[in-house]
Amino acid sequence: MAIRVSQRLERIPRYEPGMSTAEALARYGVTDAVKLSSNESPFGPLDGVEAAVADAMAGVNRYPDGGGRALKERIADLHGVDASQVVLGNGSGEIILMAGQALLDAGTSVVYPDPSFALYAHLAHAAGADAEAVPLDDDGRNDVWSMAAAVDERTRLVVLCSPNNPTGAYVPAADIEALLDAIPEDVAVLVDEAYHDFVTELDRGRVLSMARTRPNLMLTRTFSKAFGLPGVRVGYGIGSRAWVDAIERVRPPFNVSSVAQAAALAALARLGPLDERVRTLVAERERVQAALAARGVPFTPSQANFILVGPFDRGEDDAPVHQQLLRQGVIVRDGAALGVPGHIRVTVGDPGQNDTFLTALDAVQASPRRQDNTNTAALAGKEGRQPR
Ligand SMILES: Cc1ncc(COP(=O)(O)O)c(C=O)c1O
Repeated sequence: MAIRVSQRLERIPRYEPGMSTAEALARYGVTDAVKLSSNESPFGPLDGVEAAVADAMAGVNRYPDGGGRALKERIADLHGVDASQVVLGNGSGEIILMAGQALLDAGTSVVYPDPSFALYAHLAHAAGADAEAVPLDDDGRNDVWSMAAAVDERTRLVVLCSPNNPTGAYVPAADIEALLDAIPEDVAVLVDEAYHDFVTELDRGRVLSMARTRPNLMLTRTFSKAFGLPGVRVGYGIGSRAWVDAIERVRPPFNVSSVAQAAALAALARLGPLDERVRTLVAERERVQAALAARGVPFTPSQANFILVGPFDRGEDDAPVHQQLLRQGVIVRDGAALGVPGHIRVTVGDPGQNDTFLTALDAVQASPRRQDNTNTAALAGKEGRQPR
């Protein structure tokens, strides 16, 4: 190697993003594509966001407010907490990474669900800590009982993901409370709620109530999903002062740009229209799930803006389902890259995009295939899951 690098890099794979629309068009020679691979919103910015961004642009010769005071106060107001319980990140992903930096040392460990968001393993490896991956339960949910059992004296951090990416399965708040009660009070717990806005379960606000009072609990949320602002990069965490103080010590100065702060504030002034969009996407999620069920296509019931579809009953020689969909101009995520081989993860788009997906899936299912050598082990789900 041309330069000397940390030994920790041996355990850190590069992040592989989903295929861009341009790449898919070029690689598969299709003329138009529907991108349902990155759990993005099909809607453009909410009214007022572009104008706020343009206004903020006029001042970009100045540094942003490094404390993000106005945005923190607005978020605090909205969630019934004090601004000192809010921390801002360059996307919620940065907060999760900062949690790793702030809490972990070599020889300590982080307990997290698997398969889940790839960043959790990364933050352990980046800190030289041990990554304790705990398999999901049979319903694709974080298995809180096994996770609690995996906590030992080395554990500094437990990460939960609800709804879980890539399964979309939700962890009931009572289960999270049970985990908190089962582990030592000084072990930090972070609940990643990136897809919270799409949850329709009745207990959906309870983790927030717990984060108001439990000193070891932090939750993270983002403007990247329901708010449709992944390009500007802003997310936040809500937790105890101890949690916030730990993260603030490792937070890079000016990590959230003035443009991002302005966009998030403008979006928060449009909660009514946001709610309408979320309702549309939730209705579409239910429609797509009903359509899959009617076709006999297996899927994991989702509380997010994506659905894990499969396992598919394909022959060994058949092209993977995500490739067959790509040839028809529908970009979805290959489950093999997410630890769920034999599946695809499809983002819920607008009604037209979802119809395009369902039509393309029908064509894939109708295409002739070899039945004689179906590799059921690889398709069976859990056994076939690959470590990341
Ligand atoms: C479960 C989960 N958490 C966090 C993130 C990070 O989102 P962002 O950094 O854009 O807020 C994602 C993004 O896909 C995610 O799926």
